[in-house]
Amino acid sequence: MKKTDDFQNLINQKIGELNFDKSPRELYDPMKYALTMGGKRIRPLFTLLACDMFGKDIQKAIPAALAVEVFHNFTLIHDDIMDVAPLRRGKETVYKKWNPNIGILSGDAMLAKAFEILVDSDAAQLKPLVHLLSKVAIEVCEGQQLDMNYEHSELVTIPEYLEMIRLKTAVLAGSALLAGAIVADASAADQHEIYKFGEDLGIAFQLKDDILDVFGDESKFGKKKGGDIVAKKKTYLYLKAHELAEGKILNTLTYYFVNSTFDDEAKINEVSAIYKQLHVKEVAEEQMVFYYQRALAHLANIHLPETNKAALLEVAESLMSREF
Ligand code: IPE
Ligand code: IPE
Ligand code: MG
Ligand code: MG
Ligand code: MG
Repeated sequence: MKKTDDFQNLINQKIGELNFDKSPRELYDPMKYALTMGGKRIRPLFTLLACDMFGKDIQKAIPAALAVEVFHNFTLIHDDIMDVAPLRRGKETVYKKWNPNIGILSGDAMLAKAFEILVDSDAAQLKPLVHLLSKVAIEVCEGQQLDMNYEHSELVTIPEYLEMIRLKTAVLAGSALLAGAIVADASAADQHEIYKFGEDLGIAFQLKDDILDVFGDESKFGKKKGGDIVAKKKTYLYLKAHELAEGKILNTLTYYFVNSTFDDEAKINEVSAIYKQLHVKEVAEEQMVFYYQRALAHLANIHLPETNKAALLEVAESLMSREF
């Protein structure tokens, strides 16, 4: 869609204008690498689309959009250290290319950079925007901590999993949209609905991410296939499989998620085979569609002509069938 393409080009142009050619190189090169090695740019797109949908000039939302994307990329650098992930966007992760300390520090600087960029927003909206970014940053940390806690816990319930992904992923999608609505001075009721739309879409988005981690094509998805299985992540796929498995299959599944094995490939193959046998991908997809539909219901509650919502709706829909 033309509008989406234009907005995405604008985001990429503005990111390209950020100056990371500074010293020390060990601090700035990873920041530049993370921000220019691709990515879907979904969150800043959400900010611009929400602002546009509520009828405001998107130029006013550029600082918020960039801040959200810089913040997101900071979380990815630290996430890859925590998840021991070697590959992102088809390239070496920052901590692999450099080292974990460099990943920690360049990530820290990016978090601060996100606030520095956000401060260029109009004064009238600055306080709620800073409040929003601070709040979401803390919530993402809460979600990431739960995600790590669950690696070591055998029994995680599906409601606990859903709350964990709401915090680590969905609140940022909701906040990216809300930031655009704040800039556009949307009503409190509309701000609430757009946030909830993003939050439910974000839950669907993370369910899809968990599915792609096991069933995706590594060359398209750009992340090491089976990473969640190796890291003993309590994903929806695992929890459903654990619920449905019996006897020997349950023993094998539990064995791989309790013990540490040195043969990652065998573990990935066996667990993936169990997931296939129990058809948990299909169950996860049903759950994804449930949250997607719930997101759409929130969007429908916003009193705007359908034409205003068309671009956002199209992007949301494309995320459900994404392969990367
Ligand atoms: C990855 O987000 C982190 C998750 C919340 C699953 P994206 O899939 O949006 O990553 P990029 O920015 O497009 O690479
Ligand atoms: C990502 O969850 C959440 C954040 C980065 C905050 P994942 O760990 O599943 O994300 P990917 O799969 O590494 O992108
Ligand atoms: Mg990860
Ligand atoms: Mg993670
Ligand atoms: Mg993932």
